[in-house]
Amino acid sequence: ELGTYPHYMIKEINEQPQVMRKIIKEYQDDNGDLKIDKNIIKQLNEADRLYIIAAGTSYHAGLIGKEYFEKWAGVPTEVHVASEFVYNTPLLSENPLFIFISQSGETADSRAVLVDIKEKGYKSLTITNVPGSTLSREADETLILHAGPEIAVASTKAYVAQIAVLAITAAVTARELNKVSDMNLMSELAKVTTAITSVIEDADKIEEIVKSYLETARNTFFIGRAMDYYVGLEGALKLKEISYIQAEGFAGGELKHGTIALIEEGTPVFALSTQEKVDLNIRSNAQEVKARGANVCVVAMEGLEQEGDAYVIPRVDDMLTPLVSVVVYQLISYYAALHRGNDVDKPRNLAKSVTVE
Ligand code: M6R
Repeated sequence: ELGTYPHYMIKEINEQPQVMRKIIKEYQDDNGDLKIDKNIIKQLNEADRLYIIAAGTSYHAGLIGKEYFEKWAGVPTEVHVASEFVYNTPLLSENPLFIFISQSGETADSRAVLVDIKEKGYKSLTITNVPGSTLSREADETLILHAGPEIAVASTKAYVAQIAVLAITAAVTARELNKVSDMNLMSELAKVTTAITSVIEDADKIEEIVKSYLETARNTFFIGRAMDYYVGLEGALKLKEISYIQAEGFAGGELKHGTIALIEEGTPVFALSTQEKVDLNIRSNAQEVKARGANVCVVAMEGLEQEGDAYVIPRVDDMLTPLVSVVVYQLISYYAALHRGNDVDKPRNLAKSVTVE
């Protein structure tokens, strides 16, 4: 039910701290240790390579998941767009595990891959928000997102839930493989929850950003490096999906390889900086486009902020920043669509679950 909210999308954005708390609770045992089903642990232990299969926003969450599995657990991981995998099938390892990420659990492109790999005898795990969905029933194992029903076509809380569950799954895999970590994931996720709350409380400030950067925009760019690049892809998808402003997300370093030709006087460019190791590089990309007339909106993490930045997100662990920075982009997209008088929850030409290939 909508309650006092004008749209499901803003309701679902606002529910994200609650979703994070629920996930922390569901994936923790009585001793406060990370907990997932032992059959899933076995699957993960036996795999020599993970193949994440997903579409749209879920694919973007998968890109972040790969970082967790590789950096924390040392397990090679590939992320594939479901619709491409069927014919652009890579060479597979000896013991692959396929991980399907899908809010709805009904995406036909992902199901086509699942049917195919099952025929070949490979193991599968579905990460979904909907218990009993097709992908959940047909895979060997399931992890639930616990995000509650997501009604708005634009996915918000499911993306955050997917990243959190992927982080937990990767951290469990790392633990089982005896990889040492000095990070207490659950307490870091609790800090993330507080940070998300503070971004949501700044909704008015973020609406002002939309007024300064997007009111008359026809096209826009989202740049970032490392994790911030992946969040830029999601920011661009969100914005185009509901505001119909053409948006492109790309790696900051790719600017000079083509896209910079599109920068004109006043073109909005969103630059995200939450990763210390690439802060200087993304700042210089921001300068490059600014020098060519772009209206640059920098979103930075506390500790990396500089004068003139449009918004500063609270400091959280480097690897977990997407959970917080994406909320800024979700709100930007929401207000951009709202100010254009669009149907925020039911954008044109789109369905909540895409059940045709
Ligand atoms: O239900 P799924 O997660 O499998 O859906 C995948 C995409 O269709 C979905 O994420 C889509 O990109 C969203 N509308 C984006 O907001």
